[in-house]
Amino acid sequence: THIDWDVDVAEKGGYPDFMLKEIHEQPRVIRDTLAGRLVDGHLAIDELDLSPEELNLIDRVYVIACGTSYHAGLIAKNLIEGWARIPCEVEVASEFRYRNPIITPSTLVVAVSQSGETADTLAAVRDARVKGAKVFGITNVVGSPLARESDGVIYTKANKEIAVASTKSFLGQVVSLTLLALLLAQAKGKLKTNQVRLLFHELADTAEQVEHILADTTAIDEAARACKDAKSALFVGRGMGAAISYEGALKLKEISYLHAEAYPAGEMKHGPIALIDEGFPVIAVATKSPVYDKLVSNIQEAKARGAMVVAVATEGDEDIRAHADHVIYIPKVRDAFSAITASVPLQLFARAIAVERNCDVDQPRNLAKSVTVE
Ligand code: G6P
Repeated sequence: THIDWDVDVAEKGGYPDFMLKEIHEQPRVIRDTLAGRLVDGHLAIDELDLSPEELNLIDRVYVIACGTSYHAGLIAKNLIEGWARIPCEVEVASEFRYRNPIITPSTLVVAVSQSGETADTLAAVRDARVKGAKVFGITNVVGSPLARESDGVIYTKANKEIAVASTKSFLGQVVSLTLLALLLAQAKGKLKTNQVRLLFHELADTAEQVEHILADTTAIDEAARACKDAKSALFVGRGMGAAISYEGALKLKEISYLHAEAYPAGEMKHGPIALIDEGFPVIAVATKSPVYDKLVSNIQEAKARGAMVVAVATEGDEDIRAHADHVIYIPKVRDAFSAITASVPLQLFARAIAVERNCDVDQPRNLAKSVTVE
């Protein structure tokens, strides 16, 4: 009825679907997730309830999660190992729970779950606690089973997410995990207080950078129109870019039913390059990073075989135009924070393709918002 339509429009805040509304909420999510986290120049994550001495004893981290939350974990691995120098494994909860992982009292298990009620993640948490691990939960839902059953919780401040495909929750998870990585690095004496402060401020700046990306999506929409009729697409990156690629591919397949897979770009010649023929879309996360040149070589290899290359690149990088059919520019950030910025155009890209293909963006077939049974 007419009234329902009005209610619907009001709930979506004027956006055509919840996914787009939620994508646009991300600058706020970054700000809220960071609010109150730097007090007098010091990180304040008191709810984890571990002293710096106890944090310093941690010698192994497992990040366990499912779906998009697992991809936030892949990003966290780069930060935890890179900054804190603690070995970190990331594993999907349904695998972790059925093997016999090495857990000691100095093991930290970080369980990441938007809903806080994913069956496999909860089972893995229970198992890890029985084996003596400390468990931190990263969740969006206050009072959720994960929040109740963890030793400490960081809330992501995304607020309720309605679209089945996770966007703002993912960004909140990445920001929260970044805070955790900074905390561990400080406790391990690998980062000094002033370095942590500097990084924190740069992290906070990503809110504005994401706003900038959201302000003009012309290049993203053009790339999406060019790819909309593809049967399959390949997402590639290296380092952080590889982790970002996995999430980009998942988003696309979830909502547009276009088959997509992600590969670390260096693995392309060990298989996926066989798929590439004239016009095959290759989406490359090609932001400036220590492995940028290596990635450009991979793009050239794809291009030489006829791929239609869509590159997510750093503003000011004019050279990339020579190797890509479509370039989506994003602001320059430190590689450690590139997941926050580079994920946003890939969310918009997936959504634009889903809209072009007349898919139900918010409620893709066969998928549920939370999976509470195994
Ligand atoms: C489902 C949702 C995904 C989500 C995953 C894990 O598959 O459709 O969007 O990433 O569950 O959910 P969680 O609530 O544990 O993060």
